[in-house]
Amino acid sequence: MSGLPRRLVLGIGGGIAAYKACELVRRLKERDVDVRVVMTAGAEHFLGAATLQALSGQPVRTSLWDASAEAAMSHIELARWADAILVAPASANVLARLAHGFADDLLTTLSLAASDRPLWLAPAMNRLMWAHPATQANVELLRARGAHVLGPASGEQACGEVGEGRMLEPEAIIAALSIFEAPQMLAGRRVLVSAGPTHEDLDPVRFLGNRSSGRMGFALAEAAAGMGAEVTLVAGPVALATPAGVDRIDVRSARQMHAAMLEHAPGMDVVIGAAAVADYRPEQRQTRKIKKQDDRFTVTLVRNPDILLDLAALSPRPYLAGFAAETEALEDNAQLKLQAKGLDLIAANLVGEGLGIETQDNAFSVFWRGGSTVLPRAPKTDLAVSLLRIVAGQLAAKGGRGT
Ligand SMILES: Cc1cc2nc3c(=O)[nH]c(=O)nc-3n(C[C@H](O)[C@H](O)[C@H](O)COP(=O)(O)O)c2cc1C
Repeated sequence: MSGLPRRLVLGIGGGIAAYKACELVRRLKERDVDVRVVMTAGAEHFLGAATLQALSGQPVRTSLWDASAEAAMSHIELARWADAILVAPASANVLARLAHGFADDLLTTLSLAASDRPLWLAPAMNRLMWAHPATQANVELLRARGAHVLGPASGEQACGEVGEGRMLEPEAIIAALSIFEAPQMLAGRRVLVSAGPTHEDLDPVRFLGNRSSGRMGFALAEAAAGMGAEVTLVAGPVALATPAGVDRIDVRSARQMHAAMLEHAPGMDVVIGAAAVADYRPEQRQTRKIKKQDDRFTVTLVRNPDILLDLAALSPRPYLAGFAAETEALEDNAQLKLQAKGLDLIAANLVGEGLGIETQDNAFSVFWRGGSTVLPRAPKTDLAVSLLRIVAGQLAAKGGRGT
């Protein structure tokens, strides 16, 4: 089972990444998805409809005013027909028009008419266009209304710049779309996720931190909500938007994260520790800024509480999943942590070599008592769905809540 929507409207916006839509259509067809393509006026400058027609095996719609289309009302017919709408690439202009309810072409009009269907958006644009507050506000608005925003990824851009704004690759988009099949796999479940780094203050302006971006935890929270769970996210200091439908609690230090997690864990079905929590904190936090004095400066560190270990001691105990970022002996270290912390599942990854911390992609070896699997390199959004499928499967097999 591919897990993808069977009938998909693919909207193509006016951006350089439109060429990737050809590959996307081809790969969706390979997976037996029935694709109907709708191009914006901008998209027609980048791609010929004939190519997409040949790839999709269906007429390509470009106009709201096409009298030959279904009952001359393509927007309503297509909206009724589709299981889901995917816009890839979603240009800055398309995002703005969708966010503000415009109905000035076929794609935006049918998106309004299909407002009871899931909407997936794969933005693609120059990094400064993406970072502009207007674009960010539009994306927030769309997210808040339940749209699934895929990416964008960082990297080299067609305009020669480097930054965030590349459309996700077709395979990554397809992987993320596969949540469609699992929308209710976590329905009725309560899920608590921790994400991001912690900051351990040295003085009013300095702290000890780590390079965690929070992306994995946020992707898990978003995917869990998408799969029907009631989700609480305890976030360390990160610059990420709250996923739609997720309750967020912001914390700063390991001790604050410990307190928030232990406060919210009772009654949860699943707790996922995806935060990179500092093992140690400075023994003393200076109330005044530390001045430059001697050549050597010694800070004494003391152990922070172990959140997962304390969660494992709860009774009843929720299903507990953790992460292990290792630089060596992946399986041995993961198995040790699984046992030592009393976890139900651990997702282990090697850090470094462009994987793990601060990246969009990752790859995991996943272990649980009596089993393991490998999740190959993929965007964190995609891995989140794969991990939650495993968790949901184990919960269903166990029946009921925690142990
Ligand atoms: C060569 C070229 C490349 C462009 N690439 C992008 C792009 O990658 N993303 C984007 O949002 N806009 C891009 N634009 C601007 C859009 O094409 C323009 O905003 C257009 O109105 C979008 O129309 P749409 O609503 O049909 O997508 C590009 C324009 C040109 C001329």
